[in-house]
Amino acid sequence: MAEASTQHDDNNETKSRRDFLLLIPLALFASMAATIAAAAFRYLRPTRIFGEAVWTDIGPLSQFTGARPIMRSLETERAAGWANMVEEHFVFVLPDKNYQVLSAACPHEGCNVIWRDEDRNFFCPCHDSSFAADGSRLSGPARRGLDPLPSQTENGTLKVKYQSFVNNTSERVVRG
Ligand code: FES
Repeated sequence: MAEASTQHDDNNETKSRRDFLLLIPLALFASMAATIAAAAFRYLRPTRIFGEAVWTDIGPLSQFTGARPIMRSLETERAAGWANMVEEHFVFVLPDKNYQVLSAACPHEGCNVIWRDEDRNFFCPCHDSSFAADGSRLSGPARRGLDPLPSQTENGTLKVKYQSFVNNTSERVVRG
């Protein structure tokens, strides 16, 4: 009887050991699956909701003083298939126009405009369009003025929602 009980205990111990050994590959598999899932989430997560721009800091308000436009660059991410593309854009802050922010992309074909101190206007080197200090169109093939961007101040920092617009139209149409 005692012998039967010992054998029963041995069987139980062997079964527990077998169960435990089975758990090791399962735990390894679960850990690998979690690592792959986390990497996939990081890679595929949307950084920009389709068609909706996000607020981006462009600097403390104290940096934007004086009577001339101040250029800043910012980066946006755009989903391109499975990958995200980082794009650099340029904007001008107008300190004397209540910190209005203008896109530096020429509305003709998208070249970046420059500010000319001597003429106090914006100039596009691609096809010679020019724009007044407030961004309104002066001359050249561009059919509208420079595009204003939504901006706001939060805790002393100027933020902008960068948007691209359709080129070469007189109407301002946000690119989706
Ligand atoms: S792209 Fe600016 S004038 Fe053509």
